[in-house]
Amino acid sequence: MTAAINELILRQPDDWHIHLRDDVALAVTVPHVAHQFARAIIMPNLRPPVTTVAAAQAYRDRILAARPAGSDFDPLMTLYLTDTTSPEEIVKAKASGFVKAVKLYPAGATTNSDAGVSAIEKTYPALAEMAAQGVPLLVHGEVTDPAVDLFDREAAFIEQVLKPLLNKFPDLRVVFEHITTAEAAAFVRSAGDRVGATITAHHLLYNRNAIFQGGVRPHYYCLPVLKRERHREALVEAATSGAKQFFLGTDSAPHAKLTKEAACGCAGCYTAGEALQMYAMAFDAAGALDSLEGFASLHGPAFYGLPVNERKVVLRRVPSTVPTGYPYINGDTLVPLEGGNTLPWSFAHV
Ligand code: NCD
Ligand code: ZN
Repeated sequence: MTAAINELILRQPDDWHIHLRDDVALAVTVPHVAHQFARAIIMPNLRPPVTTVAAAQAYRDRILAARPAGSDFDPLMTLYLTDTTSPEEIVKAKASGFVKAVKLYPAGATTNSDAGVSAIEKTYPALAEMAAQGVPLLVHGEVTDPAVDLFDREAAFIEQVLKPLLNKFPDLRVVFEHITTAEAAAFVRSAGDRVGATITAHHLLYNRNAIFQGGVRPHYYCLPVLKRERHREALVEAATSGAKQFFLGTDSAPHAKLTKEAACGCAGCYTAGEALQMYAMAFDAAGALDSLEGFASLHGPAFYGLPVNERKVVLRRVPSTVPTGYPYINGDTLVPLEGGNTLPWSFAHV
């Protein structure tokens, strides 16, 4: 048996999928992401959604204004694809330099997705321009047909939407966001270099039992929902395999405590403050800490054609306790995943 790794120094990771929300929420979310990550792909599902380059620029300025003093955290912006996104807006996005991708939410799939795409054909002019400009499409990969079982919606999306889309646009680069199933992991591997996938820490650590452990546990409820153990195992295998198509995306998605702990609670796990300690737990459990840097710090920049980060961070096998909550909007609290619990790892800058 080889000795356990107790300290892991790596290039600072980036988060390729995060929700920061807006206005006063940024005072909580931005310092968290900026501490752990050098860059992050910022989801555009605000109310109203970020559908134009002008709106993305204004949102980016609000995020930059919320950075702690001295931080050079770089928010990489996205546009929210709608039925009416024009090819001209895609040209503008590419020219902006700060819009790095366009996000497809099937209408009704998740939080603030009601302005999303109602029929994929309507987006073909925008998708054709994205393929031409080399702007990646990020997909929330779940069908929204209420007749399809909630746990089957990702696998159905691959067959019904994703495969036909990739065939129709052979030059379009796609990130299958927050994958949760063995089917998705296998599909991404088979699809070649132009398809990437992000994987969250919570989908690597937990299966769907976590949502029902001794009662309903709303802080483990997110979309796509946690799946069976065999799917979690397939995700761990993909993330730790060294395959360049898989990279880190926390999908940290803050919701105020009162909207999570409710009769109809919001979907989303808040992990921005402790994400790297959680990824370290998952990779450690798989005996694969040596592949964490590739997944967290190298594969994402390679997919997006960006330089890797020069700054180093360190994960130490020293316990750290997750705060029970952070003061959040309207006097409410933001409860992080594993709030109040102790994790076996600590995170610091070198
Ligand atoms: C996200 C949110 O709250 O914005 N929720 C979630 O459960 N992941 C939306 C999303 O990414 O699906
Ligand atoms: Zn998300």
